[in-house]
Amino acid sequence: MRILGFLVFLLAQAQQETLQPVATMKQLMVDIIHPASNEILLFVSRGSSQDDKEWDRVRRSAITLAESANLLTMRGRARDQGEWMKDAKLLADVGAAAYKAAEAKDAKALAALSESLDRSCTTCHKQYRPNVFPRAGDSK
Ligand code: HEC
Repeated sequence: MRILGFLVFLLAQAQQETLQPVATMKQLMVDIIHPASNEILLFVSRGSSQDDKEWDRVRRSAITLAESANLLTMRGRARDQGEWMKDAKLLADVGAAAYKAAEAKDAKALAALSESLDRSCTTCHKQYRPNVFPRAGDSK
């Protein structure tokens, strides 16, 4: 009986793991993460707005970024369980903070986040896109 319970447990585990990444890393960046961060950064650089619809877009982009960080940590996407996870967390945290700012329509708080938003991208890119950010001494 105990063995049967264990087998059921294993089966449930296996079923949980049937969800696979759909987008490639590049698609995730180009079609989800980059447009969302662009929306926020452009909004800030335009000096924000009083328009509710624009704030709605910023709010949606912020939650998109925060949850995209989770997508980056999926099995099949995460490159390792150390630095990659930390880098993804930077994106999750700044996305969540931007969401709060957008919900409160707090332009100042949002503007204060643009640097950490930018940094959340480059921190990971510096480590995991060596063709774009060659390490010192590389011939490329
Ligand atoms: C945890 C790691 C990580 C984070 C965080 C991250 N990226 Fe990326 N990004 C990558 C990797 C890896 C690639 C290379 C993808 C490939 O070519 O396979 C990439 C590639 C890209 C590309 C180029 C895609 C192409 O055309 O080849 C863009 C644009 C991009 N990222 C935007 C962003 C922006 C904007 C952010 C922040 C809001 C961000 N990324 C955050 C890992 C990350």
